[in-house]
Amino acid sequence: MSQVTIESVLQEERVFEPPAELAAGARIGSMAAYRELVERIEADPDAFWGEQAREQLHWFEPFHTVLDWSNPPFARWFEGGTTNLAYNCLDRHLDGPRAEKTALIWEGEPGDSRHFTYRDLHGEVCRAANALKALGIGKGDLVALYMPMVPEAAIAMLACARIGAPHSVVFGGFSAEALRDRLIDGGVKAVITADGGFRKDKPVALKPAVDRALADGACPTVEHVLVVRRTEQPTAMEPGRDRWWHELVEVQSADCPAEPMASEDRLFVLYTSGSTGKPKGVVHTTAGYNLWAHLTFQWIFDLRDDDVHWCTADVGWITGHSYIVYGPLSNGATTVMYEGAPRPSKPGAFWEVIEKHKVTLFYTAPTAIRAFMKSGREVPDHYDMSTLRILGTVGEPINPEAWMWYREVIGHGRCPIIDTWWQTETGGVMISPLPGATPTKPGSATLPLPGIAADVVDNEGHSVGVDEGGYLAVRRPWPGMMRTVHGDPERFRRSYWEHITGDDGRPLYFAGDGARRDADGYYWVMGRVDDVISVSGHRLGSMEIESALVSHPAVAEAAVVGRPDDLKGEGIVAFVTLQAGVDGSEALGVELRRHVGTEIGPIARPDEIRFSDALPKTRSGKIMRRILRALAAGEEVSGDTSTLEDRSVLDALRV
Ligand code: WT7
Repeated sequence: MSQVTIESVLQEERVFEPPAELAAGARIGSMAAYRELVERIEADPDAFWGEQAREQLHWFEPFHTVLDWSNPPFARWFEGGTTNLAYNCLDRHLDGPRAEKTALIWEGEPGDSRHFTYRDLHGEVCRAANALKALGIGKGDLVALYMPMVPEAAIAMLACARIGAPHSVVFGGFSAEALRDRLIDGGVKAVITADGGFRKDKPVALKPAVDRALADGACPTVEHVLVVRRTEQPTAMEPGRDRWWHELVEVQSADCPAEPMASEDRLFVLYTSGSTGKPKGVVHTTAGYNLWAHLTFQWIFDLRDDDVHWCTADVGWITGHSYIVYGPLSNGATTVMYEGAPRPSKPGAFWEVIEKHKVTLFYTAPTAIRAFMKSGREVPDHYDMSTLRILGTVGEPINPEAWMWYREVIGHGRCPIIDTWWQTETGGVMISPLPGATPTKPGSATLPLPGIAADVVDNEGHSVGVDEGGYLAVRRPWPGMMRTVHGDPERFRRSYWEHITGDDGRPLYFAGDGARRDADGYYWVMGRVDDVISVSGHRLGSMEIESALVSHPAVAEAAVVGRPDDLKGEGIVAFVTLQAGVDGSEALGVELRRHVGTEIGPIARPDEIRFSDALPKTRSGKIMRRILRALAAGEEVSGDTSTLEDRSVLDALRV
């Protein structure tokens, strides 16, 4: 892990108070109320989490222990209890008028839309759950989803949760090879996919990638493939293995009792990139995740009954899990799911969805906001977005210019901006303003949510001083924390809990981000301190891209780093040395980019490939990425280069 240093700290002086009207009706309506809650939890965290779990979730059997932290870093929450996430998201809303409330609004790319009430969604989920059972899938069987943004994606997730089959959603933009790796690692029993999806005005096939992933018996555990019909493209079906969703699901009964699940039963696995090795399967379990998605959604959006919430993420990422599907539905809210994306033919696509569905809570990524800024305010000014109450951002640091633009142009100065810091591993938001309480500063995620023992620390686990850089860490378990890495508990310990130890000898959760805290205690997240690159908020490991590059026959060695990018946050630069006798032509660069796209997915394609005869290494053979990062950014190589083995390499790499 690299050292965090802050040479010049840009001080942001602007502060925006929560709108008085919002604060007046808010669940947490002032800083005094926030502090009071924080103090109440600090006095007895277990009592608070226990009380929230009892009040906010339905239990088939009550739990007897709130938290068992006797074997860190393996936490056990709400032991003894049984509950079901799908029950909490659906069944418990069916007793009263909420049964007829809209649960899900789906807007298709070509402009088709579908509405599901809570009762409708419950029926669909039960049918899908019975279909899975008919295929012989039951409690504990891992089901992969490789889906476009269609309602069936959410329905399939809930159906899995209903029968206790953990899901593993694989982003539809990943390649067949990336899918195969995840299917093998998980030991997946069934795959739910679609013929294709609509992307940027045209149908894009998805099922062929599943066929390629499964070819030649590569994934022997996969017995079934269930295919949703979306684009109606001609689709090859393998007899005995592949079934159409509409044929199997529609004939099922709409009655399927939710399986009582133990609190710590696995709920889902979601792969994410780390600094080393292959992507790791982050494991979340039933009750703790449910409580955290539920509570954070309520808090950060100050949820009201008539809210219409739209999170623009894909369900293939944790943001989609927690804030398109589980957080909103667990709270009985109305959630919007959109298949499309803004594109040249429809630059106002997002604003049109907000106007059409009267969206009140909007949650998107800084990358998207920066792209909107580029096309000018004329586009959003054309739409009526007066229903908006709160604007959220997630995924990467937001620069103050983009923050101000979001506030002024989209929110007309009326809507609080909530910059939410969290990770796949944390299950839900950890650091964020509370819209009715927290004064905001452009570019700061502000303060930890109540009960979150966040800190900025040095290598020894000591809190650093005001405006000093350090590592973002969490001192105490929280309900939504990941429980392990699928199949590799030691990797879980090593990746997150061995970097920093507190004075009491307890390990701290190491997030992998650098941060500083200002005089008001506000957090300013500065980005990754490991070899993780964030492209448009999507997390990619340098090593993953390097492995993809060296799997090409022309490549001898590769080192991949991020460089600052105005639009995407970070771009990818690959330094490549070739096999003897191969020339670094432009055509080879194009081919290598395509190769990475095939191995991982288009988001991992390097923006630039630099061929060189050698890479800067230490005497022990370790690639000095710090030097490559400076070179990629066009900066002078500063700091200590004395450990560099061959100094002439540096000159050759400068362009
Ligand atoms: C990494 C986690 C959590 C959902 C989306 C990404 C970066 C996330 C912020 C923010 C600065 C942020 C961090 C983090 N990140 N939110 N508000 N400000 N950085 O989930 O793929 O697990 O990535 O995204 O670097 O570690 P993820």
